[in-house]
Amino acid sequence: MRKYSPIEDELDKLNKQLEQRVIELTAQLEITNRHLKEEIIEHKKDEKRLTLKYSITNILSEFNDPKEALTRTLKAICENGWEIGEIWFIDKGTNILTLNSMWYNPPWDVKEFEAVSREITFPKGIGLPGRVWENGQPAWINDVIVDRNFLRESIASKLGLHGAFAFPIKISGNVAGVMSFYSRSIEPPDNDLLQMFDVIGAQIGGFIARKQVEEELQRMQNIESIGVLSGGIAHDFNNLLTAILGNISLSKLYLSKKNISPDDNVFKRLAASEESCEHAKEITSMLITFARGGKPIKEPIEISKLLKETTTLLIPGDLHITCEFDIPAHLYPVKADKLQIKQVIKSIVANAIEAMPDGGIIRVKADNIEIGKKDNLQLKDEKYIKVSVEDSGVGIPEENLSKIFDPYFTTKEKGLHKGMGLGLSICYSIINRHEGLITVDSKVGVGTTFHFYLPANLEGLRDASHISSATG
Ligand SMILES: Nc1ncnc2c1ncn2[C@@H]1O[C@H](COP(=O)(O)OP(=O)(O)OP(=O)(O)O)[C@@H](O)[C@H]1O
Ligand SMILES: [Mg+2]
Repeated sequence: MRKYSPIEDELDKLNKQLEQRVIELTAQLEITNRHLKEEIIEHKKDEKRLTLKYSITNILSEFNDPKEALTRTLKAICENGWEIGEIWFIDKGTNILTLNSMWYNPPWDVKEFEAVSREITFPKGIGLPGRVWENGQPAWINDVIVDRNFLRESIASKLGLHGAFAFPIKISGNVAGVMSFYSRSIEPPDNDLLQMFDVIGAQIGGFIARKQVEEELQRMQNIESIGVLSGGIAHDFNNLLTAILGNISLSKLYLSKKNISPDDNVFKRLAASEESCEHAKEITSMLITFARGGKPIKEPIEISKLLKETTTLLIPGDLHITCEFDIPAHLYPVKADKLQIKQVIKSIVANAIEAMPDGGIIRVKADNIEIGKKDNLQLKDEKYIKVSVEDSGVGIPEENLSKIFDPYFTTKEKGLHKGMGLGLSICYSIINRHEGLITVDSKVGVGTTFHFYLPANLEGLRDASHISSATG
């Protein structure tokens, strides 16, 4: 057996120590390396997030059309690791979230998922979008298949969807909609990403609010300028019609003097011309109201009486149309131009009747309301009365909703007795001149509701409270 010398023993010991040191250093190096790799991954993630944030900011400033801007935003987020993106907006009429648009990365086909999503709606607190609406905060789901509050689980599992997140679109701090995204992998929560999307949600809300104001201004300018033009033409036209009608009357007089029988064909032709001229005069007078509608002559009006009388008078007996009123006894007093408001009620109810050729229900409702920031309406934060006229008619397709207040927009046959496309433009300018607002909610095949708001006359309110305290 070989004997080790003391020097060899020492060398062996040193060697072992060295090996131990190398092992320790390697382990340390591995840890540092891992940290470094993690840092690089985080850095890359930060960079990706920042790039996405910039590209969304660019989209929102570059694209004028809100629909196009929102679709591009969905696409930009989906290109960053998410398969499907959706936008849900709160339907003001029914107060539920309905799908507005969807994006999915081609060539993936998610038609079935889209069909289910178009059918489904989310009340506050229900499902991923409803939860985000309720909390006003972004939310993360690691795996939708095991989440108890994910309603489209079976179709999601068919597609192999797992990870999801959603964030609110906020206008003036209030949730107006929700964007949600899905991926095919199980995703651990990414709080930095959620925080960034909280900011992006507010940015998108600001963009939508800005576009709404711009659209409203544009519409007002269009209505004003078309009003001035058609008003001028209508005025001259009215004078010409008066002259034609005068000449027809004189012709009828001359014929009578020549003992021509009133049954003669010439008389019949003249009577027909007279009738057409009268219709033409009705149209010119509508155009003049629209153009000149002018400053309303405001006086205290009894809006509940006006609503009931005007609506009841218009309901035809031969169609199966029933009318229901829900008007509280103590509506705020209102100062308005009675004839102009009557014209508004007439136009809205006439449209409702025309939308229900086979009969239906018209519900007229009025309420006292106080506008606040949460209402997100282009009105002052003051007291108003809100009138709603709901019908169970054909409804208005979404693509027409932004056009119905435009002058001459009609889906009815044009002509003397048919639609001129002026009824709602006149309503719009009258309500605008009363410093109110007119809005619409509609669903094809379900019905339409027009709402108009008129400022409460607080002086009248003070007078009324003075009277009630004096008498009470
Ligand atoms: N209650 C409603 N239900 C369904 N569609 C409606 C309703 N109200 C308005 N619309 C749609 O809006 C369009 C514009 O309405 P508007 O009252 O301005 O014009 P019009 O009724 O066509 O013609 P006019 O009122 O000048 O006779 C209508 O042609 C119709 O397509
Ligand atoms: Mg009409």
